[in-house]
Amino acid sequence: MNLTVIGTGYVGLVTGICFAEMGNTVTCVDTSTEKIDRLAEGKIPIYEPGLEPLLHNNLREGRLHFSTSLAKAMENCQVFFIAVGTPSNHDGSADLQHVLDVAREIGKFMTEYCVVVDKSTVPVGTADKVRAVIRHELAQRGVEIDFDVVSNPEFLKEGGAIDDFMRPDRIIIGTESDHAREMMRQLYVPFNMNRDRTIYMGVRDAEMTKYAANAMLATKISFINEIANLCDLLGVDVENVRRGIGSDSRIGYSFIYPGCGFGGSCFPKDVSALVHLAESCEFEPKVLRSVVERNRCQQRVLFDKITRRFGADLSKLTIGVWGLAFKPGTDDLREAPSLVLLHDLIGAGARVKAYDPVAMDAARKILPQAWFDNCDLVLADHQYDALKGADALALVTEWKPFRTPDFRAMKKIMQQSIIFDGRNQYDPTQMREEGFEYEGIGRRS
Ligand SMILES: NC(=O)c1ccc[n+]([C@@H]2O[C@H](COP(=O)([O-])OP(=O)(O)OC[C@H]3O[C@@H](n4cnc5c(N)ncnc54)[C@H](O)[C@@H]3O)[C@@H](O)[C@H]2O)c1
Repeated sequence: MNLTVIGTGYVGLVTGICFAEMGNTVTCVDTSTEKIDRLAEGKIPIYEPGLEPLLHNNLREGRLHFSTSLAKAMENCQVFFIAVGTPSNHDGSADLQHVLDVAREIGKFMTEYCVVVDKSTVPVGTADKVRAVIRHELAQRGVEIDFDVVSNPEFLKEGGAIDDFMRPDRIIIGTESDHAREMMRQLYVPFNMNRDRTIYMGVRDAEMTKYAANAMLATKISFINEIANLCDLLGVDVENVRRGIGSDSRIGYSFIYPGCGFGGSCFPKDVSALVHLAESCEFEPKVLRSVVERNRCQQRVLFDKITRRFGADLSKLTIGVWGLAFKPGTDDLREAPSLVLLHDLIGAGARVKAYDPVAMDAARKILPQAWFDNCDLVLADHQYDALKGADALALVTEWKPFRTPDFRAMKKIMQQSIIFDGRNQYDPTQMREEGFEYEGIGRRS
């Protein structure tokens, strides 16, 4: 098939490249000329393991094209994937501006039947809005062209996006149209070779499924964080509790790692959007509100521990921070707990030396220039450089190189041997034996 994917971020780029890899001809469209130019030269603007070789392969084979013009991409195209961002508005609702802009463009230039697929995460009712916008544009042009709007939410994880897209747990197709369902079925045949993973449902059901999935995962994290905080007060080791409850197959081990809160481009904004959606139906979302509130507090838990240890004035201290990305495997800093910690530490007068294996360039772009100018923040070249003269280490992102560091070398270069472990990566007993003062999240030290 000939496909157009609109938006070349983490989702759009992976979607476009993976469909091209399966033999389709794909045009990826973005409003950012810089991104499109780089992609056309075979350069990936984001960090996503395994994506670059696939990009090169499909460019070489002529199956993948990049353009800033949706109008041009629309010629001879049967399926349009909308994969643009849906960030939060100030009130927590999803900002649909980009999605509806794309719908408007499609309506302006559509010439024959096509399927418009919402891949962006959008609230229940968005497909209706997309349909209305396209119809309005067609009416303005005085033409009647049939089209369908499908909801096909994406469940990939940054850092493992290719594998998730190529071997998905499930493919959700929300549509009321037999014709659109058949086109989507055909498109996804190569991803269903060993078993059919597709679940068909109504458009609104599919829109809700994506929000419910993210809200469920966020709830598990906030739940275990609440238990961990309680463990801290009761002298209980949450890591034993985690293993104890994870062994129950009804609970499972995934998404019950205690830590300094979740971040990223999805969970925070999607849970907030669901809260807003509930409010718009005059429904009180008690559980979802608590998930948001627990996470807001949890993103401050490392700072609270640091000020409890050193006092509120940190002006004489240097804190080494390991990890800036919101999770390992990505350079994405959106809503990252590290940003909250940096803000609080620098606000309390500390000097911060931070290191991340891949998110340093992204951090340099978004962090306040004044922090660099005043030497409040130094981005270190190496994980151990971030600890030279440091009074403590705060571990925020559990990248693999931080798992078994050289503790002896760390002791030698640090001013004080203190670790605040925001991801429970280290064993408190071993830390004591190595001569470190250690505090995890809900650990018995
Ligand atoms: N990032 C993830 O892990 C993930 C996973 C599943 C679902 N999602 C959802 O997928 C959607 C996209 O997320 P993302 O992380 O890829 O976003 P992103 O911010 O990385 O990329 C969005 C891209 O869309 C482009 N864009 C915006 N308006 C445009 C327009 N009118 N025409 C063409 N391009 C336009 C932007 O320039 C940008 O390159 C969001 O709704 C998100 O919630 C994200």
